[in-house]
Amino acid sequence: MENKTKPNGSATLSVGGKSLDLPVLSGSVGPDVIDVKSLYAQTGMFTLDPGFTSTASCESQITYIDGDEGVLLYRGYPIDQLADNSSFLEVCYLLLNGELPNAAELDEYTNTITHHTMLHTQFDRFFEGYRRDAHPMAVMVGTVGALSAFYHDSTDINDPMQRMIATHRLIAKMPTIAARAHKYSVGQPFVSPRNDLSYSENFLRMCFAVPAEDYEVNPVLAKAMDKIFILHADHEQNASTSTVRLAGSSGANPFACIAAGIACLWGPSHGGANEAALNMLREIGSVDKIPEYVKRAKDKDDPFRLMGFGHRVYKNYDPRAKVMQQTCHEVLDVLDKRDEPLLQVAMELEKIALEDEYFVSKKLYPNIDFYSGITLNALGFPTEMYTVLFALARTVGWIAQWEEMTTDPTQRIGRPRQVYTGATERNYVPLDKR
Ligand code: SDX
Repeated sequence: MENKTKPNGSATLSVGGKSLDLPVLSGSVGPDVIDVKSLYAQTGMFTLDPGFTSTASCESQITYIDGDEGVLLYRGYPIDQLADNSSFLEVCYLLLNGELPNAAELDEYTNTITHHTMLHTQFDRFFEGYRRDAHPMAVMVGTVGALSAFYHDSTDINDPMQRMIATHRLIAKMPTIAARAHKYSVGQPFVSPRNDLSYSENFLRMCFAVPAEDYEVNPVLAKAMDKIFILHADHEQNASTSTVRLAGSSGANPFACIAAGIACLWGPSHGGANEAALNMLREIGSVDKIPEYVKRAKDKDDPFRLMGFGHRVYKNYDPRAKVMQQTCHEVLDVLDKRDEPLLQVAMELEKIALEDEYFVSKKLYPNIDFYSGITLNALGFPTEMYTVLFALARTVGWIAQWEEMTTDPTQRIGRPRQVYTGATERNYVPLDKR
């Protein structure tokens, strides 16, 4: 990746009686950055920013978010336009290559991914090591990491061809692995991918087909699944993407890096929020119980939070949540579940929260996870599978960011420092003296 920041003056820092001019750099859009690379060398001091609320970890050309305006662009294209007009595989091509494919490029890419969807037959035995009641995310962390034990011919990160094959394998095989995680948990036989189905049709069939009868994919549901994958594909330097970049900065192979990303995504503050949000809606149960839970969410002494609300970056509506809400209504309509009680609770909760001073003052809006759970529940997925679907879709974002980091000429191993407040040096005390 070629560095494209532009110098834009400097920021003067006065510290320790010294005055320091630090370069200010501009990107193509969004906040400028103060380049502090030389700060420690010039002042002997570090910056401190534990949650990285004011820290840019890298330069990137993949995804842009404007949290105040509620803007999300994949390689410059607005998320709602891609959700309405594109397909998940076309978005994969865009995120990885930087441009939308023409018809021939899309056909070739689709054909390549289609012919990487199968798994080594021995790989299926990995699942047997898990208890049947294992959380599917535990299965995903383990099995995706194990891919590096099967595909030694695509783990040399310095070989562009091997990186490309690993990318194809990960994007193609995640649906097969995710569907197996589901089938294993419900005790049904694994269903192999079919080359005559689209990416999302294949996934729905591998999840829900049973040998006892033919399975016809509902095209409306397949389109909704594809749109959900598009919405979750990438999101700038979120926690799991930063995990993948940090793991990759040591030279770890791509399968291990993606497994690290899956592990981080699992947390309820991040990708696990869709599972937590649906469980919360179930716990609330009915519209009349909402005020009690809104009160708890506002109570500093109560750890309860409204799952699916709030975001580190979006201080306005998450643009993905709008599309997710529309998709939710489409799916419930086609499945004739429009009076789904969970949807009534969700819509009333959103209405109450958006009018409540606490949420308005803290700029807490529904995020992508608020409506995704209801949609996935209607599609027939068990709650524990929701974050697995998030990981399936986010794999292309993780891989695109990993590839960008790996090819960045300025890339070095990520190694943050600290401010140390522990014990200063002291001598060992023999046991009989303590
Ligand atoms: C994702 O980063 C990404 O891009 C992530 C993601 C992606 O695509 O990769 O968008 C996916 O992870 C979406 C977020 C899913 N998580 C949830 O829905 C869990 C619930 N939300 C919160 O835990 C929280 O909002 C976070 C984790 C999302 C953001 O946390 P921040 O930015 O660190 O904000 P904070 O915790 O400091 O909260 C600010 C204030 C606090 O009150 P004060 O201490 O200032 O008084 O808002 C309050 C919080 O208590 N608050 C909430 C709340 N979220 C924040 N209060 C009630 N309910 C909530 N959901």
